[in-house]
Amino acid sequence: MAEPRNRYSTVSLILHWLTAVLVITQIVLIQAHEATDGPISREFVNIHKSVGLSILVLTLIRLGWRVANPAIPLPVDTPRWQKLVARGTHVLFYILLLAMPLVGWAASSAAGRDIVWFGLFDWPLLPIGGGRDVARDLMDLHESAAKLLIALVILHVLGALKHHFIDRDNVLHRMIPLIPRRP
Ligand code: HEM
Ligand code: HEM
Repeated sequence: MAEPRNRYSTVSLILHWLTAVLVITQIVLIQAHEATDGPISREFVNIHKSVGLSILVLTLIRLGWRVANPAIPLPVDTPRWQKLVARGTHVLFYILLLAMPLVGWAASSAAGRDIVWFGLFDWPLLPIGGGRDVARDLMDLHESAAKLLIALVILHVLGALKHHFIDRDNVLHRMIPLIPRRP
């Protein structure tokens, strides 16, 4: 009998880990922005915007890929509530990975601030008016979404570590194939 699929495709792995690195980069860029002043500080925000919009494009590609290549089911003995928490976390991740860049983009557009993607070309602004007031409300939303995203990353990593060290199954192996597969 054919062995069930037990790891993600190389494309899925690249998309997962690239997104994870970029999301962490986003947090580091904001910390760097807050720790500095002047042109360099503004440059950190410019890079943050470019990386954020790249995450938006990457997530759209990833969702397309995901529709064509559905996830592998969790081990059969995983309790139902854990399957629901895992699935809910993943769905919320996808929503936030789309919503956070869209809200940031909308805020920059409302404030009329240009976005130049990595200094290479003008990213079009959305047709949103309202000026600084609307931009401020959108940034409040951006900040709340960021807190939720960070909480989810912590929950997600704890879940992955629980699978590996407590359940001792292959869930982490299939996202990190360098970790040896358990029999
Ligand atoms: C910002 C960081 C991260 C984000 C946004 C993220 C997002 C996601 C998403 C959306 C999925 C679901 C994939 C799908 O089936 O569509 C997933 C799966 C997974 N992630 Fe992450 N991830 C992050 C970091 C990590 C880290 C650091 C680890 C390891 C410690 C990890 C381990 C896993 C594992 C093992 C799965 C597979 C779960 C399964 O097979 O059901 N992730 N991740
Ligand atoms: C997944 C993508 C993104 C993540 C994870 C992210 C995350 C964050 C975080 C954590 C903050 C700090 C919030 C606070 O405590 O005040 C922030 C601020 C900000 N973000 Fe994003 N962001 C993303 C995408 C974007 C995009 C696409 C734009 C604009 C095009 C953007 C524009 C901004 C701006 C202008 C700030 C405020 C910087 C300041 O303090 O002046 N973000 N973002």
